[in-house]
Amino acid sequence: MAKRSLGWALEKGRLLCIAVFVDVCAAQLNLTCPDYVARHAPLLSLHPEEPYMPSDILTHIQRTTPKLNHEAIPDPLPPLDLDNLEILNRFGEQVALTSIDDPTTYPPWLLGERPDSDGRTRNATPCVVIVVEKGDSVLDAFYFYFYSYNEGPNITQVLEPLNGIIDGGRNFDRSKHFGNHIGDWEHNMIRFRDGEPVGIFYSQHRDGAAFDWDDQSISKSGGRPIAYSALGSHAMYPTRGDQVHDYAIIDYCDDGPTWDPVLSAYFYHFDPPTFTLTQLTPPSGLHSSPPPPPSNLTSFFYYLGNWGDTQYPDSDPRQATVPYFGLKRFETGPNGPRYKHLVRKGLMRDHPRKLAWIEWAVGVYMAWYPCCLRGWRVWVFLGLVLAAVVGTAIGLWIGIRRWIGGLKARAKARTEEIPLDDFASEEQGLLSSFDEDTERNTRGE
Ligand SMILES: *[C@@H]1O[C@H](CO)[C@@H](O)[C@H](O)[C@H]1NC(C)=O
Ligand SMILES: *[C@@H]1O[C@H](CO)[C@@H](O)[C@H](O)[C@H]1NC(C)=O
Ligand SMILES: *[C@@H]1O[C@H](CO)[C@@H](O)[C@H](O)[C@H]1NC(C)=O
Repeated sequence: MAKRSLGWALEKGRLLCIAVFVDVCAAQLNLTCPDYVARHAPLLSLHPEEPYMPSDILTHIQRTTPKLNHEAIPDPLPPLDLDNLEILNRFGEQVALTSIDDPTTYPPWLLGERPDSDGRTRNATPCVVIVVEKGDSVLDAFYFYFYSYNEGPNITQVLEPLNGIIDGGRNFDRSKHFGNHIGDWEHNMIRFRDGEPVGIFYSQHRDGAAFDWDDQSISKSGGRPIAYSALGSHAMYPTRGDQVHDYAIIDYCDDGPTWDPVLSAYFYHFDPPTFTLTQLTPPSGLHSSPPPPPSNLTSFFYYLGNWGDTQYPDSDPRQATVPYFGLKRFETGPNGPRYKHLVRKGLMRDHPRKLAWIEWAVGVYMAWYPCCLRGWRVWVFLGLVLAAVVGTAIGLWIGIRRWIGGLKARAKARTEEIPLDDFASEEQGLLSSFDEDTERNTRGE
């Protein structure tokens, strides 16, 4: 079986299930996640000042209540857990697991659990590993990391000159962070070919970043990549230090507590054609803390809704807005791993996310800022732009006049029946009018 794919074994298991009876399924389907998925799993470096640690997924479900449009769901529901979360799907995709406590009081569950000196979260299972087989001996291993809270940037993290613009806005509170949300799913994906890693993807704010396994820019330790989790936002980067994203905002990455996510993780196999998740036994090298699977623990994966509160209305005293840019202090929580492009051709998702016009405008502005829009440069730049506009207008005007002149000359040539030779030189004159140098030479002659 070792050489056969997990998918093949699962299919065989299912046929047996149908043939025998359902209770033996769990035993029949006791398939083990390949060892290499743990051997090369990322090691995370959390920021030394990170307050929002990896969080237990089940606790998060228990400390939140499903709401729709800020209202509790009226139907009676059983206590929710990893085995039944998808029952919320009948209320649609806008359901939001909403914090029972006020998040601005920072209850302990929101802060998660700091990994111990071995990098293990003893009382929390904040990691979900999902393997997707792709044929040609290729396997994509997704390592999902869960945090109950995401803290966005504050004014200190905004680059010049946007920080000045925002700071000058009305009612702007410098002490606040914006773009916060309850629930945060980040991930790495490692692509394996014949059990050897060939590439790695890091999730970041928009589309993330991908690297060949041998790329010098990724940090590694003992065959495992080190993934830096940015302070507050938990965006993933291959190196420490300040990281600028979306041209405008700084993420801080540094050597802090090490988190070894696969030590406390759930392991699954995902079958794209049937959209089925099946639990796997943790790789044999791992003495994983969760006890043997008491149940399938897959229902949470099928949940369609959001993992945190819906964006608070402006009337909510906890809500605030960044002047001019409209970014909210509290945004809607993210949706789960099923939406994170588990089927991809390359290391990145197949189609990049569409930019909002404001993101596009900020990107263009910030890209031009250092060279051309900063201080006195802006006047030189505007002067050049003006010169270019005036130059183009004059060029067009001359061009149009020549073109009209040419048309007139042609009409004249046709009516007057000038000799063929003369007509030819008239044509040359028309062509040469597109080229200033030739024009000048002709005149000089
Ligand atoms: C599943 O298989 C592994 C080894 O392949 C074994 O260690 C484990 O005890 C089995 N678990 C169950 C629940 O049968
Ligand atoms: C912004 O946040 C960073 C990191 O959390 C912190 O070090 C800094 O002091 C904050 N700045 C302000 C103005 O509050
Ligand atoms: C586990 O999965 C099997 C097969 O899909 C299903 O019949 C069973 O009800 C599931 N058990 C739980 C506890 O969800």
